Order: sequence, then structure tokens, then C-alpha cells
Amino acid sequence: MTVRVALLPGDGVGPEVIAEARRAVDALGLPIEWTELVWGSAHWHEHGRMLPDDWRESLSGHTAVLMGAVGDPSLPDHVSLWGLTLELRQRLDLWANLRPVRLLEGIPGPLSGRGPEDVDMLFLRENTEGEYSGVGGRAHQGLPTEVGIETSVFTRTGVERILRHAFELAETRRGLVTSATKSNASRFGYVLWDEVAEEVAADFPGVRYERVLVDALAARMVRDPGSLDVVAASNLFGDILTDLAAAIQGGMGIAASANVAPGTPQLGLFEPVHGSAPDIAGQGIANPVGAIWSAVLLLDHVGEQAAAGTLMAALEDVCRMGPRTRDVGGDAGTREVGEAVAARAAELSERSR
Ligand code: NAD
Ligand code: IPM
Ligand code: MN
Repeated sequence: MTVRVALLPGDGVGPEVIAEARRAVDALGLPIEWTELVWGSAHWHEHGRMLPDDWRESLSGHTAVLMGAVGDPSLPDHVSLWGLTLELRQRLDLWANLRPVRLLEGIPGPLSGRGPEDVDMLFLRENTEGEYSGVGGRAHQGLPTEVGIETSVFTRTGVERILRHAFELAETRRGLVTSATKSNASRFGYVLWDEVAEEVAADFPGVRYERVLVDALAARMVRDPGSLDVVAASNLFGDILTDLAAAIQGGMGIAASANVAPGTPQLGLFEPVHGSAPDIAGQGIANPVGAIWSAVLLLDHVGEQAAAGTLMAALEDVCRMGPRTRDVGGDAGTREVGEAVAARAAELSERSR
């Protein structure tokens, strides 16, 4: 059956890395039909909106979206992100953001004495509420009394579903859930978070649960990443911790993510963790690994587990043998890496036929 995937290349290095993710998927010879969508900052300049009014209709009939980053120096970031990425996550209720963190063989990591065997974490970030609920306001603009209020919103439903999913995932892995909290200083939202975590943990006697203050957790990720398995975090904490995690796995260009609503038929949205990287956009040097890895997560989500395994194996082979982009110690361009992954993926899928 044909799988319909919407392709949203986005801004900056987005189109450069998404082209390589598409190339890698196409090399697998699956019945995939792509619909390219030109939403993003250029769309804003033309129409005054990041998304068209009929974005829902455009996405209907698709099983997934493969997306590049959004953000352009010509627009305020809160306009572009609230106009597209955050809007889609919230409106589609894609409440779980999965971010696998592994140090792949051949990719230099910054932690001395740590290798691929020490880094295998899975971050599960709450994706629709918390600190990024979008609730707040500004008043008395331009006056000395000007005020800006940003309200964190934690709901029992929102907290429970993310934590429950963390435990379900831990059951399939090494059996540990670490919940990132800050209930010493934030005494409302995170106290609710902790209480719900305790309740959910009681339903999973086979999974170990620990509550760790987020500041100490950041230090532990660097000091002892091997002691972590599934990490459940709020929207803000998950955002920050996964850039740290990306650095641990070799850099921003490596990290992948899935925005999903587990247990529902909602389409998934897959994107690398990195941004539009205006500092290197247009140079053909961005690392496409995070985008290709995101395509692996997409394939898994749309029921193509074998193809996902093949593409991940191809990606790992290329990371180990090269070519690699310069951010991870090589000298290749985006396209050269993408072509190498595609060639390897074609070879591996031919072999498995
Ligand atoms: P960034 O991730 O774009 O860049 C941070 C650093 O990582 C830069 O030095 C950049 O060159 C490097 N980098 C990023 N991706 C890379 C890749 N594939 N290969 C090699 N190096 C890479 O973060 P930023 O600079 O804070 O943000 C830039 C813009 O992107 C802003 O407009 C921001 O709002 C937006 N942003 C969007 C998303 C998204 O849409 N998912 C995510 C993060 C940031
Ligand atoms: C990410 C990004 C986004 C986020 C921004 C661009 C809104 O940083 O996906 O990590 O904070 O969720
Ligand atoms: Mn981020």
C-alpha cells in the first residue's frame, strides 16, 4: 500500500538535509508518495502567514510529515515557530516528542573516555503544554511598567500520558525511567508532575523509577550517560536537555526526533532536532544524519519496520566508514553523505530481498 508522506523542507539548512533524507528513503524502493509543501518563512513573506488556512486539508490523507527546521533571520523567531512548528504540534495534539540519543560508531563524541557503548538514552519530551503552552501576555508596552508573563500549564492528562508512555517505552528497553523535575523551586506544576509520576510508576512494577532534579540531571548526562535509559521531561526541560544530548552524541547535526500521539491514528511529524542553522545555510555542508535518522523514525511509525532497520544500518555504516561532514570530523558535503547513505541503503535492501 502506498504511504503518503508530506515533505516540508522549511528554512535555512532544512531543504538541504531534507533532500538527503528523501533520497535515502527513495533508495529503499518503497511505495512512498511525497507531497512537497512550501510552507515556511518564504510563505510568510508572500502571504503573511507561515501556514495556509487550509493546512489541515493539505495534510489529510498523509500518514506522516518529514520536516526541516523553521526560522529565518528576516522574521522574529516567535512568529515563525508559533506560526508553524509549535502550531502543528499543538493543533495536531502531537504530545510526545521522542528523541533517541546514541553515540554512533565513527562519530567523535566530546566526553573523554566514553564511546558508543556508554550512550544510549531515549528522551521523551512533553510536546504541547508545560512552559511552551503559549499562555501569557504583555501589557503596558514601552512603559517602565511593561510586563511580560509566560505561564506554565501542567494538566493531569498531559502529564499522565507522557509519563505512562515513558514507562511503556522503558519496558521495551533497559527498564529505567528518569523523570526530570524541578519541584524544589517550582512548587505547583512540578509537584503535580511528581505526584502523577509516582501514581503511574505504581502501575509498572517491572520498571525502575527515579525522580531527578533537572539541574543535577544535566550534570549526570555528562558525567555518567550510561546510567540513563528513558528520560521523561517537560517541554522546556526536554528541549534544553536534548540539545545537550545532541552535543553528547556528536553535535546538533546528528539528533533526530519524532512528534507523535501514541495510541491514536494521528499522523506523525518527523524532524531533526537542530534549527535552520543560518550560519551555514546555503553552503552544502550541513550534516544530514539527523534528518535521515528522523526518516528512520518515520518509517518505523508508518509500519515499515524492516525498511527502518535497513536505513538505520546504512546510516550507521556510513557514520562508521565515512564520508562525514566537517562538524563530525570529516570533509564531505551534505549531498556526498546523503548519496553514500542512499547507496548503502539500496545495497542493503537489495541484499535482503
Ligand atoms: P541551530 O540548531 O540552527 O544551530 C546551532 C548550531 O548548530 C549552529 O552553529 C549550527 O551551524 C549548528 N548546526 C545545526 N544544524 C546543523 C547541521 N545539520 N549540521 C551541522 N551543524 C549544524 O540553532 P539556533 O542557531 O539556535 O537557531 C537557528 C534558527 O533555527 C532560529 O530561527 C531558531 O528559532 C530555529 N530553530 C528551529 C527549530 C525547528 O524548527 N525545529 C529548532 C531549533 C531552532
Ligand atoms: C526543538 C526546537 C523548538 C522547540 C523551537 C524551534 C520552537 O528548539 O524542536 O527543539 O523548542 O521545541
Ligand atoms: Mn530545541
